[in-house]
Amino acid sequence: MSNKYSRIIAGAMNWGVWGADLSTSEIAKLIEGCIDIGVTSFDHADIYGEHTTEKAWGDAWKNLNIDRENIQLISKCGIMRPSPQRPSIEKPHYDYSYQHIITSVETSLKNLNTDYLDMLLIHRPSPLMNPETIAKAIDHLKSSGKIRQFGVSNFTQNQVKLIQSQIPVEANQIEISPFYMDPFHDGTLDQCMTDNIIPMAWSPLGGGSMFKKISSPTLLAQRERLKAVADKYNWSLDEMTYYFILHHPAQIKVVTGSSKIERIKKAVDCYNGSITDAQWFEIWTAAKGEIVP
Ligand SMILES: NC(=O)c1ccc[n+]([C@@H]2O[C@H](COP(=O)([O-])OP(=O)(O)OC[C@H]3O[C@@H](n4cnc5c(N)ncnc54)[C@H](OP(=O)(O)O)[C@@H]3O)[C@@H](O)[C@H]2O)c1
Repeated sequence: MSNKYSRIIAGAMNWGVWGADLSTSEIAKLIEGCIDIGVTSFDHADIYGEHTTEKAWGDAWKNLNIDRENIQLISKCGIMRPSPQRPSIEKPHYDYSYQHIITSVETSLKNLNTDYLDMLLIHRPSPLMNPETIAKAIDHLKSSGKIRQFGVSNFTQNQVKLIQSQIPVEANQIEISPFYMDPFHDGTLDQCMTDNIIPMAWSPLGGGSMFKKISSPTLLAQRERLKAVADKYNWSLDEMTYYFILHHPAQIKVVTGSSKIERIKKAVDCYNGSITDAQWFEIWTAAKGEIVP
């Protein structure tokens, strides 16, 4: 299941106004830092930063003297939310019409300062999505060279099959962390392995819940149990989590959320290390609060 994307993908969602709000030069430095440590793939979506983060990233990228073929750009489309950048959207909804998919990609390309996306993902499944319409839009985008590959995000097995009835699905970007382990058991990762779909894990640290102040007693207890395992092996909580996700045989790509190079590097270091199956189940048991049946 080899492919051109780096095993650790840098998620840019928190680089802009939804997170660290990095300056153009800080983003440029972070892009260079990622490439230096082998993180050549970058994850975007049209809506990040209320439609501002792709442009912030693209403004930084255009000043860098790096061959476009040396990096991979992933972006997403379809979530429609009212925002100052999109005043015509009145109510939150999804739009997977032919015209919207194409217009959204063209806007992403302009904002990212690039001619093509390596991968376009349908951001979230919609009850109203029509696989034939999506396939026509994707065929057009592929034949005009605007995207090279196509995938989905947050799709169940059946939703993937629905789209596969019309067009190959090459990736499924899904939430995976010790706080959210459903894909290990609900068939999503099995399908990735059988159908040669690249699995990408978003929010590997639970959107930061591994570290931030949390009030839910259930989540706190779960984190305490996880911390006990991490302490036993002298791992930090993020190291333990990256080992956990990377150990799975589906060869999951980790989409990091950090805006700090030293934290992204921890994921790379874990990819270069390993854990045992027994240690994986120790983490699983701590996350679940129960032993395997
Ligand atoms: N497809 C989808 O539906 C979807 C949904 C959500 C996200 N995503 C993608 O997945 C990426 C990752 O998601 P995420 O941002 O939720 O990932 P995450 O890694 O679970 O959380 C990132 C947050 O954790 C913090 N963090 C990381 N390491 C830390 C450490 N050692 N100590 C303290 N805080 C730490 C980061 O802050 P610092 O910046 O300060 O390190 C950041 O606020 C996004 O960037 C986006 O590209 C996709």
